[in-house]
Amino acid sequence: MSDTSTLHQALIDKIKQMGFIRTPSVEAAFRAVPRHLFLPNVTVKKAYQDDAIVTKWLENGQPISSSSQPTLMAIMLEQLDLKVGDRILEIGAGTGYNAALMAHIVGKAGEVIALDIDKDIVENARENLELAGFQQVKVICTDGGFGYPNAAPYDRIILTVGAWDIIPAWQEQLKANGRLLLPLTIKENVEVTVAFDLADGYLVSTSINPCGFMKLRGAFAKPQVDKQVNQKNISRLKKLLKTALIFPTSILPFEMQIQLYILQKFGRRSLNNLRIRAYPQDTNYTPTANESVIVKHWTRLILDWT
Ligand SMILES: C[S@@+](CC[C@H](N)C(=O)[O-])C[C@H]1O[C@@H](n2cnc3c(N)ncnc32)[C@H](O)[C@@H]1O
Repeated sequence: MSDTSTLHQALIDKIKQMGFIRTPSVEAAFRAVPRHLFLPNVTVKKAYQDDAIVTKWLENGQPISSSSQPTLMAIMLEQLDLKVGDRILEIGAGTGYNAALMAHIVGKAGEVIALDIDKDIVENARENLELAGFQQVKVICTDGGFGYPNAAPYDRIILTVGAWDIIPAWQEQLKANGRLLLPLTIKENVEVTVAFDLADGYLVSTSINPCGFMKLRGAFAKPQVDKQVNQKNISRLKKLLKTALIFPTSILPFEMQIQLYILQKFGRRSLNNLRIRAYPQDTNYTPTANESVIVKHWTRLILDWT
């Protein structure tokens, strides 16, 4: 085995040992698709560390594109539960690495369409995919907030960029038995990847995992945050966890921020058995004593523990 191949397989071994790769098709994809081909500007050694790698910044230094952390990619691919022949829409093509993994799983009978909002990112993703032998993946430059109606409906829609609400177009472009997987900010600083299945007029979560993602840009980017509200939330959280007072809450690891939130709000310590249902925002829903409602712009999220 070459040095590159040894580093590649060692990373996959590690992710598997940690329990984040669980199914043979996800493992086979990670073992077959070399990450370094999607990261031509970093060393091979760096490409095979379990880290997110930023590939584009704004002039002010804000990162806007990356290859996500491989462990998080594995968690999300397991949440997605892909089958051979599935048709997939990915919003956030980035380097193209995740699109290639998905193309490996769905095979030639399936289809992967990956969208990115920046032309240069799309061009690079196409080059990377071609080099890695996945020229069948279609990479399209468009605002993924609108989904991609031209090729809908999809078995799976995955966002690899953080959303603050569920845009109706994503739900509308799913097949009846489809699944939408997205990093969703449920409250300020509280972000989780949620796999949602379609139910009767609403979406219901099948799995939830803590995460931290770059945020969606374009027409559906989150409007400016109200600083006062933000400050109020942070001081509430600080009061709750006095031991964390030496750190500003915003730099606590995201798992801890989520735990703080659910501890404060629900008296629970983990995401285990948390269920999120997403109804259209104008739904007249009366929550029970065990349910909590978060009203977004397009959706009304109902949280409870099953
Ligand atoms: C974390 S990166 C995606 C990583 C990628 N899946 C990979 O495997 O390398 C997030 C990407 O989402 C893209 N993005 C942000 N807003 C978008 C939008 N409205 N539509 C499409 N892509 C968007 C960014 O340009 C960025 O490339």
